[in-house]
Amino acid sequence: MRGKFLSFEGGEGAGKSTQIQLLGENLRSRGFEVVLTREPGGTELGEDLRKIIKYADYGREISQETEALLFAAARAQLVSEVIVPALERGAYVLSDRFVDSSVAYQGAGRVLGMTEIAKLNRFATGGLVPDLTFWIDLPVEVGFARARSRHPELEKKDRMESQELRFYERVREAYVKLAAQNPERIVRIDGEKSIEEIAAQIVFCLNLS
Ligand code: TMP
Repeated sequence: MRGKFLSFEGGEGAGKSTQIQLLGENLRSRGFEVVLTREPGGTELGEDLRKIIKYADYGREISQETEALLFAAARAQLVSEVIVPALERGAYVLSDRFVDSSVAYQGAGRVLGMTEIAKLNRFATGGLVPDLTFWIDLPVEVGFARARSRHPELEKKDRMESQELRFYERVREAYVKLAAQNPERIVRIDGEKSIEEIAAQIVFCLNLS
């Protein structure tokens, strides 16, 4: 495949979407085709699964295993319907989250096991791995405070946001571990730097000058 697959990871309020927009504009201005995807979602089926995952209220809890499978199902569809064809056309694919999110949130956060979730996702993605992953790292409390101040009206948190603090600490620890295990793929970025500094670091890593 000729394109480039870049994923963006991090906890809540890390500023992933801002960076994805900025990089997308930058690459387009250089004449590249850019495809932006978000997880869960990014396809019609995936967006339906996103609503179920985020807001489902069937009067009983979605089991943790079900949740992991729903994320993997949305991802499988996204890979086959959008990501692989885009890479075959030579596009840059910028994905707001990918497999690392499941390994961190379901594997470590929900304690389903990082190895098991990685294995499930190898099946879902056919083994597709990003060329580079930008992990925007923020202390858990800082990310929380940012997310809240941006949406003070959000009294009613969605299912994923109403997890306890300890959950998000496990998620961050998982990203630390993943970055140590994949030093050639995962670039840690200090999320407390300014938007401009982070954008410049990303452009530098991509050798775009
Ligand atoms: P976001 O749109 O802010 O990234 O929200 C997506 C939420 O879903 C976020 O809390 C992270 C969570 N998530 C998982 O738990 N597992 C996954 O595989 C993905 C993609 C997201």
